[in-house]
Amino acid sequence: MKILILNSSPRRHGNVSKMLEVMRREAEEKGAEVIYVYVSELNVRPCIGCMKCRSALRCCLPEDGAQRVLQAVKEVDALIIGAPCYWGNLPGELKVLFDRMVYGLMGENAWGMPLPLHKGKKAVVVSASTTPFPFNILYNQTRGVVKALKEILKWSGFKLVKAIEKGGTGKRPDLSEKEIAACRKAVRRLWRT
Ligand SMILES: Cc1cc2nc3c(=O)[nH]c(=O)nc-3n(C[C@H](O)[C@H](O)[C@H](O)COP(=O)(O)O)c2cc1C
Repeated sequence: MKILILNSSPRRHGNVSKMLEVMRREAEEKGAEVIYVYVSELNVRPCIGCMKCRSALRCCLPEDGAQRVLQAVKEVDALIIGAPCYWGNLPGELKVLFDRMVYGLMGENAWGMPLPLHKGKKAVVVSASTTPFPFNILYNQTRGVVKALKEILKWSGFKLVKAIEKGGTGKRPDLSEKEIAACRKAVRRLWRT
């Protein structure tokens, strides 16, 4: 099993990073080969929307971090995405990265309908927000992040096997035993058929 972890929190010791660290360890203990990317350290130019990639099947912008991450996405069996809640959505840098990878994630059939290019692959999402539970879900805070990522994953062919949403990070920055167990369990789901 080859897994790509995309950490879009710029905080190395923040909540998302802590959850991803538990997941990385669990995946490695199960024998996975893990590629770990800090999205905030990549150099990625925003998509210019030219749509040339639809026919050229490559991005017309000069090579940067986006093409390198896309290569990794193509090589792996599963994705683990860590995304803090920023304005009820995913961090801008992660959105920019997914925009730039569109041609390698989703194709188009002859009628212009989406063609998921990663069918059979799985994904896990982790998010965190200061809005406490259950309002992080009811008010679309971490839930907004999960919904946005679901859209990208669905049309790319990834099956979302688990989303973990941690609320109330301002008052509760450490991971509970229950949260650690949930992170480990979510990773193990990637091995299930
Ligand atoms: C730019 C920005 C926007 C944010 N927007 C929200 C928000 O809409 N709702 C919320 O509950 N928390 C929001 N937060 C708080 C973060 O979600 C919270 O600090 C979370 O723990 C960040 O994840 P991290 O600990 O992994 O860095 C925002 C933080 C930043 C920096």
